Amino acid sequence: MDQIAVTGGTPLRGEIPIAGAKNACLALMPATLLTDEPLTLMNAPRLSDIRTMTTLLQSLGAEVTALQGGKVLAMSSHDLTSLRADYDIVRKMRASILVLGPMLARHGRAVVSLPGGCAIGARPVDLHLMALEAMGATLDLREGYVHAKAPNGLKGARIAFPTVSVGATENALMAATLARGTTVLANAAREPEIVDLARCLRAMGARIAGEGTGTIEVEGVAALCGATHAVVIDRIELGTYMLAPAITGGEVECLGGRRDLVGAFADKLEEAGIAVEETPRGLKVSRRNGRVAAVDVVTEPFPGFPTDLQAQMMALLCTADGVSRLEERIFENRFMHAPELGRMGARISVQGGTATVTGVERLRGAPVMATDLRASVSLILAALAAEGETVVSRVYHLDRGYERVEEKLSACGARIERIAA
Ligand code: EPZ
Repeated sequence: MDQIAVTGGTPLRGEIPIAGAKNACLALMPATLLTDEPLTLMNAPRLSDIRTMTTLLQSLGAEVTALQGGKVLAMSSHDLTSLRADYDIVRKMRASILVLGPMLARHGRAVVSLPGGCAIGARPVDLHLMALEAMGATLDLREGYVHAKAPNGLKGARIAFPTVSVGATENALMAATLARGTTVLANAAREPEIVDLARCLRAMGARIAGEGTGTIEVEGVAALCGATHAVVIDRIELGTYMLAPAITGGEVECLGGRRDLVGAFADKLEEAGIAVEETPRGLKVSRRNGRVAAVDVVTEPFPGFPTDLQAQMMALLCTADGVSRLEERIFENRFMHAPELGRMGARISVQGGTATVTGVERLRGAPVMATDLRASVSLILAALAAEGETVVSRVYHLDRGYERVEEKLSACGARIERIAA
């Protein structure tokens, strides 16, 4: 298994291009199952999760061709050979559940493995199933698989989500595009990835209104056509790289960055004393001088502070001047980066869903282990500022969500290299 070695202490200066959004692409790719015409995605990120979704779609008989080194995905599900998503693929990536709604809506049946939990939580899919049943599907759970049927097609329904769920909103939104009649999704997720999916579906002929608000309305149509859609930039990659100059000092311009995608996060950075400037090419982030100020963070659904940036923000606050509190309200076990940061000298105390971080002058390099995607990149960020060398193991977690991280950071002066296993 590859490792990444970082020698900290260099203020970063330069520019970092931001790729297309992993979590948008993982919802956009299953949309090919809604039509027999070609769907082409531009600005796709080159990540292992995208390759996993490609393998899943191909296992169903869909054609997925990666062009321009993977930045373009040309897809067609004209000739599906299977409507069964196997456990051995689904268990690798929970977003696989997003093939359920589209297959059911277009073909009237689907067999999809339950994804199971992951490091950060149990991650149930009850809200996905509730939404599809509300649209008239019958669902049987047998041997770890969801056996879904809608022989007469899906029908429009009013679906009120008891809690905000990005994935359940995406599954229901895609299914509703081909349901008979009107579907209203209440308490829907408002993430930019939902807005991007709705834009793509509309380009395919879907009739959708309200995306980005808490209520989305869909008028089902008989069929969808093909389209070409550019994936929105990745706000989590953007936020992650905005933290690089914040934690090391220096100044970095994140190319393609948009403040509207990271509003709450950028506000919190400014509260900590970091400068965030909108430029014609993106967002320029710099740390003026001295230590960052301690701040309190609460993770919430968009437009609140994103849970996917909590681990990275914790790395910054480990060297802040004062005591910070981070409250994780989305997942039940998303502080696994804390003990690893502790090996680097961080002072973090976790009680239930709240981590209290007492800032120290400087972290010290150490061997650490990645546990999940965002935890792994928080260790890289901490290592960039730490004294001495840090070696991060199990970086396959990192490769799921970050394209060429060592190249992007070393281009800004970081001393970072990948050690192939
Ligand atoms: C998406 O996961 C993202 N993944 C996650 O990013 C992100 O952390 C999460 O949204 C929250 O923003 C993708 O888009 C592929 P949820 P998702 O359904 O859809 C509970 C990353 O690092 N819930 O919004 O699975 C759930 O347990 C990943 O890129 C149910 O109870 O998240 C959680 O506590 C990690 N029942 C809360 O809702 C359900 O049926 C939010 O989950 C579904 C979810």
